[in-house]
Amino acid sequence: MSILVTGGAGFIGANFVLDWLDQHDEPVINLDKLTYAGNVENLASLQGDARHIFVQGDIGDPVLVSGLLTKHRPRAVINFAAESHVDRSIHGPREFIHTNIVGTFSLLESVRAYWEGLTGDAKGCFRFLHVSTDEVYGSLRADAPAFSETSRYEPNSPYSASKAAGDHLVRAYHYTYGVPVLTTNCSNNYGPYHFPEKLIPLCILNALGGNPIPIYGDGRQIRDWLYVKDHCSAIRLVLEGGRVGETYNIGGGNEVANLDVVEKLCAILDNLKPLGDGRSYKAQITFVKDRPGHDRRYAINASKLEGELGWKPQETFETGLTKTVLWYLENQSWVTHVTSGVYRNWMNRQYGT
Ligand code: NAD
Ligand code: DAU
Repeated sequence: MSILVTGGAGFIGANFVLDWLDQHDEPVINLDKLTYAGNVENLASLQGDARHIFVQGDIGDPVLVSGLLTKHRPRAVINFAAESHVDRSIHGPREFIHTNIVGTFSLLESVRAYWEGLTGDAKGCFRFLHVSTDEVYGSLRADAPAFSETSRYEPNSPYSASKAAGDHLVRAYHYTYGVPVLTTNCSNNYGPYHFPEKLIPLCILNALGGNPIPIYGDGRQIRDWLYVKDHCSAIRLVLEGGRVGETYNIGGGNEVANLDVVEKLCAILDNLKPLGDGRSYKAQITFVKDRPGHDRRYAINASKLEGELGWKPQETFETGLTKTVLWYLENQSWVTHVTSGVYRNWMNRQYGT
C-alpha cells in the first residue's frame, strides 16, 4: 500500500508528507514540479528514508503520471499541486490556468484510467482527494454566515477562478465516470515552511529584517486562519472516512483582520526577540496600495467535518502563531535559502523594494 501526493514539496504538501510519515509506515510517492514554491529542503529530514519516493515532474504529464500509478499502485492520490498565490495570479494568470485547470484535468484523466483498470478491493477502496480553497466561494459581507459546503461558487481572482474550475472538473469526474473523489475547501493556513510571499511569513521576515511590513488597503480584510498541521489532520480524516463525492470545508474558526494578525505577530516578536531600543516591530507596519479585487472576508463553517468525522483543530491562533514565529527564528538557513535571487525579483516587482 502507498499513497501518491502531488505538490508535496510545497508548504502544505510538505507538512502533510512529514506528518504522514511521522504517523504511518505507508510509503508516499511525492510528485512535485519544483516551481519557485517547491523546495526539497522542506523534506530534508526524510533523506535516506525508503518510505519517501520523490519524483520531480508535472501533474500535467500523462506519461509520467500513468507510469507512476502503474508502477506504485497507490491506494489514493492526494492533489496539493497548484499555483497558490493570489498576487502572482493577478500579475500573470497563465501558469494558474495551466496547472490548476489543465493540470488537474490531465491528472484526473490519468487517475481515471488507472482506477478503471483496478478490480475488487483495490478499486473499491481507491480515493482521489483534491485539496482546494475557501476562496472559490468569493467574498463575504461582514454580517453574512460563514461559507458552508453549499455556498455558491463566486471566485474573484484568477487564482480562485482556476481553483474553482479544478473543483468542478473533480466533481464531474465523479458524476460522469464514477471516479471516487473527495474535495476539501480550506481557509488560510500558516505554520512552518510557509513561503514568505504570503502575509504571515512575509511579516515575520520583514519585521526581523528591519523592513516595512506591507498592509494592503485599510488592513481590515478578514481571513479565517488555521495552523497547517490541523489542515493535515483534517485531510487524513477525510481520506479515511469521508463520503465519496462529498466536499468538506476545513477552517479554524479564527476570523482575524489582517492588521490585527500583523499586530499580534509584532507583539510575539517584541517578546521573543526584542529590538533592544524599546521600540516595537509595530513601527514597521506600512500601508500600501490595495490588491485589485481584494476579497473582504472569508469564514468557514466546518461543522460537517466536525460532526461526521470528529475533527477538531489542536491549535488556537495564539499557540499556532507563537509556534510559527519560533520556527522561523530557529530555521534561519531555510529562510536564507528561500529568500535569495528569484524571491528578491518578486519583492521588487510587488512592493518596489
Ligand atoms: P505552495 O505554492 O506552497 O505549493 C505548491 C506546490 O505544488 C509546490 O511544491 C510546487 O512546486 C508544486 N506544483 C506547482 N505546479 C505543479 C505541477 N504542475 N505539477 C506538480 N507540482 C506542481 O502551495 P500551498 O500553500 O502548499 O497549497 C497547496 C494546495 O492547498 C493548493 O492546491 C492550494 O490551492 C491549497 N490551499 C492552500 C491554502 C493556503 O493557505 N496556503 C489554503 C487552502 C487551500
Ligand atoms: O483562503 C485560502 C487561501 O489563502 C489559499 O487558497 C491561498 O493559496 C493562500 O495564498 C491564501 O490566500 P490569501 O490571498 O488570503 O493569502 P495571503 O497571505 O496572500 O494574504 C492574506 C491577506 O493579507 C490578504 O487579505 C491579503 C493581505 N496581504 C497579503 C500580503 C502578501 C497584505 O495585506 N499584505 C501583503 O503583503
